[in-house]
Amino acid sequence: MTKVTAAITAVGGYVPDFVLSNTELEKMVPTTAGWIESRTGIKERRILKGEGLGTSDMCVKAIEELLKKRGITALDIDLIIVGTVTPDLVFPSTSNIVCDKVGATNAWGYDVAAACSGFLFALTSGAQFIETGKYKKVIVVGADKMSSIIDYSDRSTCIIFGDGAGAVLLEPNTEGLGIIDSLLHVDGAGRQYLHQKAGGSVKPPTHATVDAKEHYVYQEGQAVFKAAVVGMAEVSAKIMEKNGLSSEDVAWLVPHQANKRIIDATSHRMGLAPEKVMINIQKYGNTTAGTLPLCLWDYEKQLKKGDNLILSTFGAGFTWGAIYLKWAY
Ligand code: UT7
Repeated sequence: MTKVTAAITAVGGYVPDFVLSNTELEKMVPTTAGWIESRTGIKERRILKGEGLGTSDMCVKAIEELLKKRGITALDIDLIIVGTVTPDLVFPSTSNIVCDKVGATNAWGYDVAAACSGFLFALTSGAQFIETGKYKKVIVVGADKMSSIIDYSDRSTCIIFGDGAGAVLLEPNTEGLGIIDSLLHVDGAGRQYLHQKAGGSVKPPTHATVDAKEHYVYQEGQAVFKAAVVGMAEVSAKIMEKNGLSSEDVAWLVPHQANKRIIDATSHRMGLAPEKVMINIQKYGNTTAGTLPLCLWDYEKQLKKGDNLILSTFGAGFTWGAIYLKWAY
């Protein structure tokens, strides 16, 4: 029997129009545009403005573009998985809301909360439904409205994050293209370095938690940076080794866009030339679950059928991992 793999057959993306530049941030917190760019690689990020707009609205825009490109409708979709840590509501899931807003009435869905690895974990999950033959069309979205949980008086976090969404369509492939392998990890002991202190079941929201700014991202930047450099480089090198890939075999690294220095360490470890590394951190900053699909969205035209791609992430949890896939179009 021919092996069925899950291949990406279309990509959609969305970033809000509003641009928050480094120069603008200089007026908000004690920082300089030069510091931000040299320490992170970020020049500007996008922010979703507008009453009543949330993560689901960005997902919808990305999905609508994807459906149009593929020439199908929302009714053709079996399942929508959304990777996000900034859901519209605590419940129901953002996927639930997205299915309603795009009119995917034949689909069901769920969210994956794995922070910066949200898209990677969701993509691996979605691929299973294709590989088993259960479904024919699965949409995987990575989206975050990070501006909803960022303290814009905290210079250590507000300079990094931005808002955005990217989506891919997974369909069955029998030519050996699509997702070939994945290595995924969690280490809950790392949660102390990057989390949101209140709003969950341990510490529900109160006046005191709001006053203490505990509904914003808390990050110990250096600790996360050190773990990310090791974790992302290791897992990327490991998936190459496991699949017998040399640096010549890899056409593209699709890295999580948290800090240009983490990306450089990863590509160096993989022995990849800079022109094989997808970078858009300068435009969007760190959109958390949005970074990987937004890279695919930006670089789609440069990809060729059969290209070997390594997707790689590290984020809060800790969560990290890599996917090896062959581009299918
Ligand atoms: O995607 C989720 C996972 N997150 C990440 O991967 C983020 C990983 N961490 C990072 O990217 C970096 O740690 C940051 C960009 C957050 C910070 O850069 P850093 O080079 O690690 O800076 P640092 O925290 O070690 O701070 C160095 C200095 C400190 O000053 P002193 O103590 O040396 O006087 C900071 O107070 O830089 C200062 N600093 C700043 N200066 C100007 C920290 N933030 C800023 C700022 N502007 N925005």
